[in-house]
Amino acid sequence: MLNLAVCVSGGGTNLQAIIDGIESGAITNARIKAVISNNPGAYALERAKKHGIASVCISPKQFGSREEFNQALLEKLDSCQVDLVVLAGFLVVLPETLIQKYQNRVINIHPSLIPSFCGTGYYGLKVHEGALKRGVKVTGATVHFVDEGTDTGPIILQQPVMVEQEDTPELLQRRVMEQAEWKILPKAIDLIANGKVRVEDGKVLIQE
Ligand code: GAR
Repeated sequence: MLNLAVCVSGGGTNLQAIIDGIESGAITNARIKAVISNNPGAYALERAKKHGIASVCISPKQFGSREEFNQALLEKLDSCQVDLVVLAGFLVVLPETLIQKYQNRVINIHPSLIPSFCGTGYYGLKVHEGALKRGVKVTGATVHFVDEGTDTGPIILQQPVMVEQEDTPELLQRRVMEQAEWKILPKAIDLIANGKVRVEDGKVLIQE
């Protein structure tokens, strides 16, 4: 059984998709050991409570230094014996020590087809604003392993989504969530939990 920690900062619709996936049996061999938010007001924390999942707020603001925050985050993951850390809209840069210790055990959902519209500054609505400004016709979402860079780790799954002429960033964001994020994030977790994902030469190979 794969122990998950889901890290969130906001609404938690991707967290909800994971919870639903586990409850419906679409994700097997995995359970959520902890939901971690850096934001005490995140609705994601309510979602966890409603489903009886342990949740905690760990924010850099609660600590005197970044090192202390990093330590607290690492201690939480270690104490829950976490096998896979899922970044589901987590707006905090992870410390290198954590990424190294949890190499190929941290995944992230990003709302574009990486390597487009990713990297520093591209998060949430900004991604969709960028895509619309450039006039792309196809966008989508990506699940990838997290390495020391920003959105540079091995890509696990991608799902394309068509851009409509009338789209606003908000409309596009919603469609990308519905048609891509809420599908490929649970799918990636299920594949990992069932031993079907391996990384070779910096690339992900999936056993279907
Ligand atoms: C999601 O769209 C996710 O892809 C994005 O934040 C949103 C969180 O929504 N993440 C990034 O932009 C990371 N660079 P949620 O809290 O409803 O799951």
